[in-house]
Amino acid sequence: MLRFPGHGHRDTDDVVIGPLDLAARVDEALAVQALAFGLGADEIAVRRQIVLRHLTYPGARALGATTADGRLVGFVYGMPNDRAHWWSTVVEPYLRAQGNDGWLDDSFVITELHVHPRFQNRGVGRTLITAITDTAAEPRSILSAIDIDSPARGLYRSLGYEDLARQVLFPSAPKPYAVMGAPLPLRHP
Ligand SMILES: CC(C)(COP(=O)(O)OP(=O)(O)OC[C@H]1O[C@@H](n2cnc3c(N)ncnc32)[C@H](O)[C@@H]1OP(=O)(O)O)[C@@H](O)C(=O)NCCC(=O)NCCS
Repeated sequence: MLRFPGHGHRDTDDVVIGPLDLAARVDEALAVQALAFGLGADEIAVRRQIVLRHLTYPGARALGATTADGRLVGFVYGMPNDRAHWWSTVVEPYLRAQGNDGWLDDSFVITELHVHPRFQNRGVGRTLITAITDTAAEPRSILSAIDIDSPARGLYRSLGYEDLARQVLFPSAPKPYAVMGAPLPLRHP
């Protein structure tokens, strides 16, 4: 478990990173994601079913960032990639076009990473993704992020993730994504 020093205000009390029973706390996690990423009520209902299905996949794991009073303020989850999973089937032709589809084998996928806006920029996101990949058996990690210069993309690059494909279109997602991959362990500061 890792602790972050608070700043004396209730909203910035110590944050602890540790294993998360995401199925039990899916509504809290989606509330964080809704604030961090921007999700409407209908999207939350759809994501809820998707998250619960993901958690049945072999090797799916989650870590949470929790305040001293037990509030969930960040989470990450992922799983070993399986080429039969929906996400993998969507990105595969884009990676293949770049000669990068080998990244889909023996790879740990970061499916979601979100930190409550009031708790961002304190190293919580970096600690969540580093901690979950540090315990992965796979030699590399892949993920997708909206294809813009965002804090998420900056964080991933600083951890060693590089672009494997860009302008990747997911059915029903309005914005194109970049697929990124990094060797494990991730680069530590
Ligand atoms: C991406 C996210 C999870 C990062 O969480 P966080 O706790 O704020 O991240 P950290 O404090 O651990 O790391 C911040 C890093 O992000 C990067 N970063 C932060 N703000 C940035 C900015 N404006 N531009 C570029 N990079 C930025 C930096 O690399 C920074 O590293 P540093 O510690 O060396 O300065 C968080 O910003 C978030 O929830 N964003 C909205 C949801 C989202 O986009 N999720 C990812 C979906 S793919």
